[in-house]
Amino acid sequence: MRLDKQEEVRKHFDSLYKQGILPWKDHPPEPALSYFLNYLKDKAPEGKVLDLGCGDGWISFKAARASFRVWGIDGSATAIKKARQAAQKQGLQTKVKFKTGNALNLAYPDSFFNGLIDRGLFHHILPENRQLYLQNILRVLKNNSFMYLAVFSQKNPEGIGQRFSRQKIRQLFEKHFKPVFFIADPYPSPAPAHLLHFILKRKTS
Ligand SMILES: C[S@@+](CC[C@H](N)C(=O)[O-])C[C@H]1O[C@@H](n2cnc3c(N)ncnc32)[C@H](O)[C@@H]1O
Repeated sequence: MRLDKQEEVRKHFDSLYKQGILPWKDHPPEPALSYFLNYLKDKAPEGKVLDLGCGDGWISFKAARASFRVWGIDGSATAIKKARQAAQKQGLQTKVKFKTGNALNLAYPDSFFNGLIDRGLFHHILPENRQLYLQNILRVLKNNSFMYLAVFSQKNPEGIGQRFSRQKIRQLFEKHFKPVFFIADPYPSPAPAHLLHFILKRKTS
């Protein structure tokens, strides 16, 4: 496990939040995320959702408005402060619980969540920490729960984070998750990054 390098990633993001540089929010609406919330609402109405790498909480708020109880966690204390302030402003503080923490050391109970959202975190997990990421999410997810995953595609120029193909994600997750839905962002697009969007169903353990 390379927590030293992973810690650098966390610090990098905290510094971006401090400076207000959030390019991942300059993305046109992503129908896949709304599709996921509607899909999950059908399977687990009022279920519990984990927003992993929740940043300033905008996705958590979307999920809370879609009727879920939401737990948001992020490695940046600055982002979590902003998320808590926004929750107060929007009157959502009873529906969303935010905390600063590490996706590689989750402290929620076993089989707690019906759904998990990871938009833009997994591609910042170093390859040598992927198993630890999987162990953590598998422990807190219920059997037959659902995950939304959005990652950088290989169409992005080299930079921070990893790039994935649809096949690579399938290979990394197939032991524990069944693919349910896939869509790629249109290309070319004015968005700052090209994302692949997946809905995965956790297999019974
Ligand atoms: C690209 S941003 C996406 C934020 C949010 N999901 C969104 O779409 O606006 C990646 C997020 O992952 C968080 N992060 C990075 N490493 C983390 C870790 N080990 N545990 C939890 N969060 C982490 C960063 O602080 C950042 O908020």
